[in-house]
Amino acid sequence: MSFPARRLRRLRKTHRLRQLVAETRLHPSDFIYPIFVSETVERPEPVPSMPDIFRYPPEEAAGEADRAFKLGIPAVLLFGTPRHKDATGSSALDREGIIPKTIRETKSLNPDGVVVTDVCLCDYTDHGHCGILKGDIVDNDATVEVLARLALSHAEAGADIVAPSDMMDGRVQAIRNALDEGGYQDVAIMSYAAKYCSAFYGPFRDAVGSAPQFGDRKSYQMDPPNAREALQEIQLDIEEGADIVMVKPALAYLDVISRVRDRFDLPLAAYNVSGEYAMAKLAAERNLADEKQLVLEILTSIKRAGADIIISYHAPQAARWLRE
Ligand code: PBG
Repeated sequence: MSFPARRLRRLRKTHRLRQLVAETRLHPSDFIYPIFVSETVERPEPVPSMPDIFRYPPEEAAGEADRAFKLGIPAVLLFGTPRHKDATGSSALDREGIIPKTIRETKSLNPDGVVVTDVCLCDYTDHGHCGILKGDIVDNDATVEVLARLALSHAEAGADIVAPSDMMDGRVQAIRNALDEGGYQDVAIMSYAAKYCSAFYGPFRDAVGSAPQFGDRKSYQMDPPNAREALQEIQLDIEEGADIVMVKPALAYLDVISRVRDRFDLPLAAYNVSGEYAMAKLAAERNLADEKQLVLEILTSIKRAGADIIISYHAPQAARWLRE
């Protein structure tokens, strides 16, 4: 027998051969595209910490969503910054608020596009924490009650999926109950089930002005060293009624994505967060890497790890590259 009998390079010879044996394929339908909507801007305004990302007034946000849908991206994820912030995040419950308005605009322009909404109080509170405070502590059960009402108001405005990102215990069940009682049995829940307390959210907090005014989010978001705990978080959210579960951030947690994929059969989303986005953009801007190759490699790694759905600010650009 000639040596070596197996030459793995045979199948790497040409682009077509590599395509044929690719184990992971990215497609525009893998993506959810996050969009920032703001009550304080009159026209799209660039987010300084995130090159090529804008904050939009509601109508323009609907237009941006429409452009994403036309690129073959099935869903957008809406984040809202209200003009009025207070200690209890009261503007979150305004039926004419920024997010209900944007949901209706988006649906009227494009009834088929999937609208996902972020359900959390940090964009609406003046202290920047993800819930109602009791002293310096975020009060779990009081927060869960408000989150359930917030999710219901998004469902009433036409959201297809609500996505709680607060990391309170028991919120998925409270939201499921509120939606069912309100007659929204068909509105799905994508839970940020394993969301870590991460430095990679920095640019996002800049975009929505949600940096905590004191302390940090360590008492509710997960501690980075823990992976088995992530499996418990996922398990509990599934028991409480989550339809899609999420690991967030993606890149520093690919092992967690892979373990969740091995253990559970629900659709799994991974959030390629703002800091991951900004790192890639800045590296490309400084000619440290080819942007297209870098971004597609990052997105491929998230899918290869086991994510079915990738939430990414790169989504429209990646969809364009994938169609070339
Ligand atoms: C709100 C929320 C955050 C992100 C999504 N929802 C910020 C945070 O928890 O501090 C981060 C998204 C990103 O960095 O792209 N709770």
